[in-house]
Amino acid sequence: MVWFVSHPQDEYFVDNPEFRAFVAEARKVIAQESELTRRIERLKPVFSRLLRSEGWLPVAYLQPDTTSGMGSGIGQYLLFRAGDRSLGLFSLVVPPGASTPVHDHLAWGLVGLYRGEQREEVYELVEGDPDAGVVRLRLATVRAIQPGDFYPLLPPQDDIHRVTTVSAGPSVSIHLLGSDIGCTVRHRFEPEHGVSKPFRSGYSNAPCPPEES
Ligand SMILES: [Fe+2]
Repeated sequence: MVWFVSHPQDEYFVDNPEFRAFVAEARKVIAQESELTRRIERLKPVFSRLLRSEGWLPVAYLQPDTTSGMGSGIGQYLLFRAGDRSLGLFSLVVPPGASTPVHDHLAWGLVGLYRGEQREEVYELVEGDPDAGVVRLRLATVRAIQPGDFYPLLPPQDDIHRVTTVSAGPSVSIHLLGSDIGCTVRHRFEPEHGVSKPFRSGYSNAPCPPEES
């Protein structure tokens, strides 16, 4: 099993020429640009093309999942993971009316909407330490997200949010992140109670390596 070797290989859970070309182009940009703001700027047109393209994402990765670590029937499907865990792509499927927990990401990235419509609430950390479990959050921004829209993640800026599907069908967002985020311990928040908790979302279609448990 690939999980038990110290330097696992790249894993493609979506394997077609268009997706492979996207991953290759993204990696080329990442290798050429180490400064994160400029890297994200250069990735935007490549990512936007993928969001507007049809047929590359298997139907299986457009479905809700009642067993996922995100809860509320939310599916989180790994699409690609780099062997060194420096890059991961996944789809997030949120059923109609459902919301993610308020959560952080702790990694740079780009998130864009592929299907449906979302309402995004972005929170600001006013005080406290998420690792200590006591925080005060302030709702900073509420945005309507339409298919083709995308936004950067550049922690700590705008790194805490919650999304809700407001369309009649599920929303599907595509995430490009500079980590294997499903297997990373990060935080979920309860703003109304002022608490944060450790959180590892996992993936609906792939295990996390036991050494990262
Ligand atoms: Fe998120």
